Formats: sequence, C-alpha cells, structure tokens
Amino acid sequence: MATNMEQLQALLPQAEAIVRQAGALVNSLKHPQVYTKEGHANFVTEADLSSQKFLLENLAPLLPEAHFFAEEQKENHLVPGFNWVIDPIDGTTNFMRGYRPCAISVGLVKDGAAVLGLVYDVWAQELFTAIKGGGAFCNGQPIRASQAPLENALISFGTSPYYRDRAQATFAAVKDVFLHCGDVRRSGSAALDLCYVAAGRCDGFFESILSPWDFCAASLILQEAGAQISTLKGPLRCDKATAVLAGSPAVFQALCDLVRPHFAGL
Ligand code: IPD
Ligand code: CA
Ligand code: CA
Repeated sequence: MATNMEQLQALLPQAEAIVRQAGALVNSLKHPQVYTKEGHANFVTEADLSSQKFLLENLAPLLPEAHFFAEEQKENHLVPGFNWVIDPIDGTTNFMRGYRPCAISVGLVKDGAAVLGLVYDVWAQELFTAIKGGGAFCNGQPIRASQAPLENALISFGTSPYYRDRAQATFAAVKDVFLHCGDVRRSGSAALDLCYVAAGRCDGFFESILSPWDFCAASLILQEAGAQISTLKGPLRCDKATAVLAGSPAVFQALCDLVRPHFAGL
C-alpha cells in the first residue's frame, strides 16, 4: 500500500476508533497491578500491557505489512516500510497516582518518516491527530502553534526520570529558560507536552532523553500545526532514543540557544 493522502485519510478514522477504545480500556483499569522495570522509579502496569495488546491486535489488520515498535515489547527496531510506533500509556506514573496527564500515542512511520500520528488524552478525552501534509487537529478541530514571544512563553520540560545523570544539566537549563520566559511546566507526559505546543497552549518543550514511542506521533502533530522539533544536534529521527526540543516558530531558535550549551558534554 502506497501512502498517498487518500489512503492515509481512509486509515485515520479506523485508527482513531481503535485508540479511543484503548483509552476506554485504560480508563476501566484505574487500580491496576504494578510491576517494576529496569531503571529508577520505572513502572509498567497491567493497564499498559492491556492497552498495548489491544492496540497490536486491532491495528495489525489495518495494515498487515506493518511492523510494530512498541514500548512494552522486548525487541524494538524500525524496519524499511511501515512501522506502528506505540506508547500504550505515556505518563504511567501519573496514571498510577491519578495525576491527570496521560495518553496513548500511536505513530505510523514509513521508511523512517512519520506519516500519521494520534495522541489520545485518556482523562480529558482529547484526541490529537495529523496526517503528513494534512494539518493537525484536536477532536477534529484544526490546531496551530502560538505566536507568543519568549518573554511571555510557557515552556514545558521533562526530567528524563530514568536517567538521573542528566539532572544537573536539565535543571541548569530549566533555570536558564525560566529566567528568559513567562513560566515553566512539567506534566509527566511528553506526548501531551508536545501536543500542547501544537495546540498553542504552551510555546516550547525540551527533554534530554526520550524514546521514539514518546515523541513519534506528537512530532508529526506538532509540525503539522506549524511548530518545529529537533534533537539538540540536528534533525529528529524516529529510530532511537534522543534529546528532543520543540517550539513555536517564535521561540524555537531562542530555546535551542538557551538549552543546547547545558548538554554540550553529554
Ligand atoms: C515518560 C513520560 C515523561 C517523560 C519520561 C517518559 P512513560 O513516559 O513521557 O513525561 O519525562 O521521559 O519516559 O514512561 O510514562 O511512558
Ligand atoms: Ca512514554
Ligand atoms: Ca509508556
């Protein structure tokens, strides 16, 4: 199947229905069994595993040739052709504690480039979507990045909680950014942070390490909404863990200039 706009437009409503059903499943598992993963305070719950199983089983028939790159499976690599890139719950710690922001993130990558993105906030029941070249939407309404200048900007950041050696650089960068912008935020869901930049609710975001399932879908939504995204060194790729920096056109370069020096040695 070639990915022209019409074919992606046919795929999107089917993927939307599946992601919303996965959200209902997650919402029905509010007190899940919790398991510990490798790394500091890194958990997986019965709800993450159920959500991933549901997504894999239901997305597979939509595009039988597609490979799955999903957080809670053992081996992950991108293959040539189609790949579904999935985070079954982004914000697991929030979900476990009833701290609201958490989302299901589903991206479709073709030959290395994201072509379809869905991020579903399971509490707010907001579904952010994009098709490459087709604009970005929240619950079907078009969204655009903001135009606020840096001095009034809201900038969100992630702490890379599973990589404690990044703390010094992260918090030094946050202080520097804070002193130049309106205020800062830390939500606990990188996928939603990026969608909030897309929707103009926030103006920029950075985190020193994220995995492709955290940012793949949202990176397309964000670019389709007119915002910019990259690593701290160059163009973003969906095949490996990397630093991520995003912003509206009004703040992106200034945010890069403030954040990048703090990670120069890492
Ligand atoms: C995490 C969230 C968090 C970010 C972490 C991610 P998870 O994803 O996106 O905001 O700071 O780096 O790993 O573990 O809840 O899927
Ligand atoms: Ca995640
Ligand atoms: Ca996750």
